[in-house]
Formats: sequence, C-alpha cells, structure tokens
Amino acid sequence: MTIKDIFDTMEYGPAPESAKEALAWIEGRGGLAGPFVDGQWGAARADIDIRNPATGERLAGLTKCTPDEVDAAVKAARKAQPGWWALGGHGRARILYAIARMMQKQSRLLAVIESLDNGKPIRESRDIDVPLAIRHFYHHAGLAQLLESEQPGMEPHGVAGQIIPWNFPLLMLAWKIAPALAAGNTVVLKPAEYTTLSAQVFAELCRQAGVPPGVVNIVTGDGETGQALVAAEVDKIAFTGSTEVGRRIRQATAGRGIPLTLELGGKSPYIVFEDADIDSAVEGLVDAIWFNQGQVCCAGSRLLVQEGIAEEFHARLKRRMDGLRIGDPLDKCVDVGAIVDPVQLETITRLVDGNMEGETYRANVPLPATGCFYPPTLITGLSPAAPLMQEEIFGPVLVSTTFRTPSEAVELANNTRYGLAATLWSENVNLALDVAPKLKAGVVWVNGTNMFDAAAPFGGVRESGFGREGGWEGLGAYLRPVRGAAKLTPVAAFTGDGAPAGPLDRTAKLYIGGKQARPDGGYSRPVHGPKGALLGHASLANRKDVRNAVEAAHAAKGWSRTTGHLRAQILYYLAENLSARVGEFAARIDALTGAGGAVEVEASIRRLFTWAAWADKVDGQAKGVPLRGLALALREPVGVIGMLCPDEAPLLGLISTIAPAIAMGNRVVAVASEAFPLAGTDLYQVLDTSDVPGGVVNILTGSHAELAPVLADHLDVDAVWSFSSTDLSAGIERRSAGNLKRSWVNDTRARDWHGPEGEGRAFIEAATEVKTVWVPYGE
Ligand code: NAI
Repeated sequence: MTIKDIFDTMEYGPAPESAKEALAWIEGRGGLAGPFVDGQWGAARADIDIRNPATGERLAGLTKCTPDEVDAAVKAARKAQPGWWALGGHGRARILYAIARMMQKQSRLLAVIESLDNGKPIRESRDIDVPLAIRHFYHHAGLAQLLESEQPGMEPHGVAGQIIPWNFPLLMLAWKIAPALAAGNTVVLKPAEYTTLSAQVFAELCRQAGVPPGVVNIVTGDGETGQALVAAEVDKIAFTGSTEVGRRIRQATAGRGIPLTLELGGKSPYIVFEDADIDSAVEGLVDAIWFNQGQVCCAGSRLLVQEGIAEEFHARLKRRMDGLRIGDPLDKCVDVGAIVDPVQLETITRLVDGNMEGETYRANVPLPATGCFYPPTLITGLSPAAPLMQEEIFGPVLVSTTFRTPSEAVELANNTRYGLAATLWSENVNLALDVAPKLKAGVVWVNGTNMFDAAAPFGGVRESGFGREGGWEGLGAYLRPVRGAAKLTPVAAFTGDGAPAGPLDRTAKLYIGGKQARPDGGYSRPVHGPKGALLGHASLANRKDVRNAVEAAHAAKGWSRTTGHLRAQILYYLAENLSARVGEFAARIDALTGAGGAVEVEASIRRLFTWAAWADKVDGQAKGVPLRGLALALREPVGVIGMLCPDEAPLLGLISTIAPAIAMGNRVVAVASEAFPLAGTDLYQVLDTSDVPGGVVNILTGSHAELAPVLADHLDVDAVWSFSSTDLSAGIERRSAGNLKRSWVNDTRARDWHGPEGEGRAFIEAATEVKTVWVPYGE
C-alpha cells in the first residue's frame, strides 16, 4: 500500500493500546470495586458485574453500598471536615496539587481503565478526559490558594454528597471533587454503576498524594446507593445525570436546607449559517455529536442549517461520516468507540427505530460484529416538534432541520425545554455576536464546539439544571457566607380591637403591571399596630392575582435588555423619591412595627444606592482558557423572580430583595411582608414617580404560605426566593422541581437586613445566570 493509497482510502492498520497494566491493576484489587472510606478500602463484594462494553467481557465485580455503608462514609467525611478546613487555603492547595501530580504520573493507566470501562476511544480518554481532569485539580489548587484573600468571609458547607454519571467518569469526578475540596468541604462521591473503575484508581492516588483520611470518600453502587447518599446527613448535594433523576433529587432534598446543584440533560442546537466555513462546521460536528459516541450532555445533537447550504452541507457531512472509524476503543486509530452499556444501546435503538419522519442516514462503515456499537446516524427533514427533535437520545444520532433567517434560527434553537449549550458557525462576527445573547443556553460556542476548561463556568438554564462548574463561579457552589447563628423566628401580625388610629386609610390595593389593582377575590384584612390600633386594610392576593402579576412581569421583558446605566439611574431616582418622603415612611413603619422607622428608611435609601451602584458593574469575566480563544463568563438576568419578602423589616426587606433583582435586569413578583404589609403598599407611588416601567416590579400582599406554592408551581416563573419569617422551603423546593426553577429559600438562620448579610454577592449570584460564550481570539 502506497502513501497515496492510504490517503485515498484512509485505510490503515490497528494501533491498539495494551490493556495489560490496567487489567493487572484491577486484579490487584481482587477483581472487585468497592467503597473507599476514611482513607481505607472497605469490604468489597461482587453485587453487580462491571463489563467492558466493547467486548461484553466481565472486568470486575461492583459493590452495591448499603445505606449503612453510605452513612459510615458520611460520618468519616464529617469527622475529617473541620481539620481539612483548618488546613487553610495553602494547605489544601498543596494537596490538590499533589493529586494533580499523581494523576499525571498515572495518566496512561487512568486513560486505559476509562476506555475499558466506558467504551470511549483511547484517543479521547488519553487526550481529553484525563488531561482535562488533571487541569481541574491544578486550577483548583490555585483557587484554594487564593480563596482567603479573594473571598474573605466565606466558609464551606461541610460534607458534600456528589453523584456522577457514566459518560465522563473521571472528568465528572474531577469537576465535583476539586472545587469541593478547594473550598474546604469533604466529599462522599458515588460514581455511576457502569463506570466505577477510574474512581477506584483515583482513590488510591489520593492515598498516595497524602489526602487526609475521610476527606475523599467513594461509595459504589447504583441508583439505590445514590438515593441513600441523597438521604444521608450531607450538607450539600451536587448531581450530574438525567433530568428525571435530577428532579427526584430536587424533591428529596426539599426543605432540608441543603444547597443543590444539578447538571442535567440537553438537546443543544448546532447552528450553521450560510456564510460559515462549511468544512470546519462539518468537522465541528464530529466533535459535537460523535465525540464520546454522542453520550455528552452538551452534545450538539440538533443541527440547524441555513436553507441555502443545507443540501451541500448534508452531502459533505455524510461523506465525513463515512470516513469515521468505529471499533475497539483501545485502538488509537478509532474515532467512535462503544456505547456504555447494552441498556443505553437499547434506548438509542428504540428511539431511532420509533421515528417515522424524515430520512435516516447511517454511516457507511463496518461495525464490530459483537459489543455495544451503534453507527453514526443523521436524520434529516424532521419537523421542529418531532420527538427526536425534542428528546435527548444520548447516542451518536444527529437530527437536522433547516432555517431561513437568523431570527428563525434563534426561535428553533430555543424551542426546547433544555438550555445547556449551543454552537454557532458563521464567518460574520457581527451575526454570531448578535445571535449568541439571544440563545437560551448556559454555554455558547462560536466557531468551535464542546470546548471545556477548568476556568470556564459550565452549566445550564431551564430544565438543564442550575449551578455552574468551573472557575470562581463553580467554586461558589461549595461556599457560603459566614452567618450569625440567630434562629429565624416567625413574625406574627398584631391583632387589635378595630379602633382606627386616626383618619383611616382605604384598603391598599395590589400593584400589578404598574397599576393599582383590586384583589381578584375581593378580600382584605385589617392591619393593626402593636397596641392594637387599626392602621388600614391590606388586600389578600390569590392565585389569579399571581397569574396576572406574572403575566405583567413577562410583558415587561424589555427591562432585561436595558443597559445597566439606565437601571442604575432608575434605582437612584427611586432612592431620591423615597428620601423626599422619609418622614412619612418612618412614621408608617413605627406605626406598623412599633419603632425603628427612621433607621429603616435611611437603610433602605442606602441599599437602593448599593444596587444602583452594582447595576452597571456586574460585568462578568473573560477567562484565559488554554485554547485559541476566550471564554466570556457573562451574567444574564434569571428572568421573572417570585419572592416572599422578609416580614421583619417591611420596607428594608422589600427593597433589599427587589433592588438587586431589578438591578440585574429581572422582573419581580414580590409578596410584601405578611405581618406589616402597608410599608410595601406605600411604595407604589414611589415606584410610579421613579420611571420604573410597569410590570418590572409587581407587589402583592397576602399570605406567604398560600402564595408561595402558586409561585413555585408557575411554569413562567424562573426563580423563587423566600425570606419569609415562616420556613416555606420544603414546599417551594419540592414544587420548583416541576420546571426546575431556581430557588433561594431561607435557611434556618435569621438575616440581619441592616448589615452586610442584607446585600452582597449572594444576591448577585441569585439574580443572574452565568452564560459562558467561547469566542475565537488571538492566535
Ligand atoms: P441517571 O441519571 O439515572 O444516573 C446518573 C447517576 O445518578 C448514576 O450515578 C446513578 O447511579 C445515579 N442515580 C440514579 N438514580 C438515582 C436516584 N434516584 N437518586 C440518586 N442517584 C441516582 O442516568 P442513566 O440512567 O445512567 O442514563 C439515563 C439517561 O440520562 C441517558 O440516556 C441520558 O439521556 C441521561 N444522562 C445525562 C447525563 C448528563 O451528563 N447530563 C449523564 C448520564 C445520563
């Protein structure tokens, strides 16, 4: 065979990597994978078989850890946590660095074990999974080192329970463990049942790297072990996997005061404009949908190609598909390896075989006679509503449709319940940067795809979950501000005998869409002062009023596109108009609560200034990633936020929650202090005179306990915050699982609204989503 023949046919011989060392390593562990707790290997059993998906051969036996074994791991982690935090940032940095070094030394073993266990081509595990995992530990060694100086006043949650999927076993482990440890938490991690082996090697490397016992604990098993970990006494849960399980975990942790991050599924659009470099875009698709056999949560699985080039594009794509080499994952020449397990192969087959629409093209390439293999597949001509355009297939199957205009592309791209990632190909930078902000996705790649780095935040919006992994933004999920220990206590409304305190106010209405509105139900309640005097009546909002307010908030979506400068000006103007009425508001608060009015109004004005100041300063970060480009971590508003405002500080609490939300470009439906609602209703006129557009701030009064579930159930509400003095977290968190809306609910500790806890970064985090836009930049 001549070199020309090789180039023409792309036929070349196999170049298999040896599995000898990896198999010997497994043998050295007695052919069993099991728990690693408190720095020791626990008793291992062969409860489940671990198989090589490329051959079907049994690799090892897997221990299915029982709830008792999981609890033991959590106890070990709890015992180790104070010491780990006390080591300080530098102490933890040294150990994270040591882990990275150990992984580097054993990178070949890790890559081979990963490919044996998962079926991914060795080219990927060797050149992508393992190096990225190592980079994660290096990067987080640095974050640990800088933590105290960069983020003073923060502390770890304690013990993090972490559950990961099978598609990137080692990389997902690194994404979970590195930030948790850097922030001073200890961890109990459960790998997926199909792919546990690289975590076993990692546990051994932790021992060698000098990780103190109990800091890293691994429990093995399937979904039941995962459930036991969710039920155990952990202080934080981080999960990556299917949307369905993510939803169940949201429900299971509801009301337990456990912060949760969920990285779930996707159906990410891959948009090719007609001015794109077509060959690059075709090559990009190989990385988008055939990387890791398409078993990638952010896979570019939905091709949207502009009509004028569709035919040519599909033709070139099919030619490229026919050039892919499928086979033994340990062969260094193989592009596409095995599907992780027969169960997953069946799922893919069922989904594709069930489709009756469009045309299905399977790559014209030989498949191995045995093992879990599925050919690269392209399905064209599907309608946007076709099940395969909407459902995550999680396999090497690309679905495709066409569009005519950029706005149609945006509409199709956003026509999904998910929002993990999106890819754009165009040689026109104006077009690409015009479209990128319009895409509902946590990550956008311009003229590239499936790029990841430890410094670049990754995560989704909508039903793709919440929270970010990577960079300072990801580290934030493992930290919380140091808070006072005072318990949150319910604040009850005063009661009285009905005698008016003076000339009686009329019943305060609701404030919806910039207008005062009578409550739908027509009910109100008397509001009494501390000595029983009747101060007025407050409307009792119901479900219909919430719906109207949410609708008004949606109609005001232009607010999210205003500039930070404009929002700052409006917040300053609010402060100015409030300061013109200091005496009146102070007297009202005194009458409602008994005292402290003047101080509270002054603090409210100050707080409006704080958020006016921030409005044009939350500008994200440009991450210098080690690839040809920049990852811009931009902050976008969350959308419509429903909020139960603090009872105890009726004006300051309302301002402290509304102002950060609108400063960041959100619209709000706020339920004012239940006990002292009239300080909130007095604000309507100030809002009217301050140029706040109608619908940006909607204020309701009524029962927090009745209105919270309505807000949490509402599919057009993107986030719910509760600072009510009643703990409503269980209901809100459980119900928010429906559309996986973000929730920020009171923990059991009281917040001092006058102090630094009443403002700061936590509010910015909750009021924004990070969108990471990767753009080509530099050489
Ligand atoms: P899965 O979500 O069931 O499993 C992920 C992890 O969660 C595993 O470690 C599993 O043992 C654990 N788990 C399962 N049930 C649990 C429960 N009730 N409580 C706690 N932990 C639990 O994903 P699976 O079954 O492996 O794959 C099914 C589908 O999920 C795939 O076809 C794909 O569509 C999607 N998926 C998405 C991933 C992503 O990265 N977004 C990764 C893996 C799967």
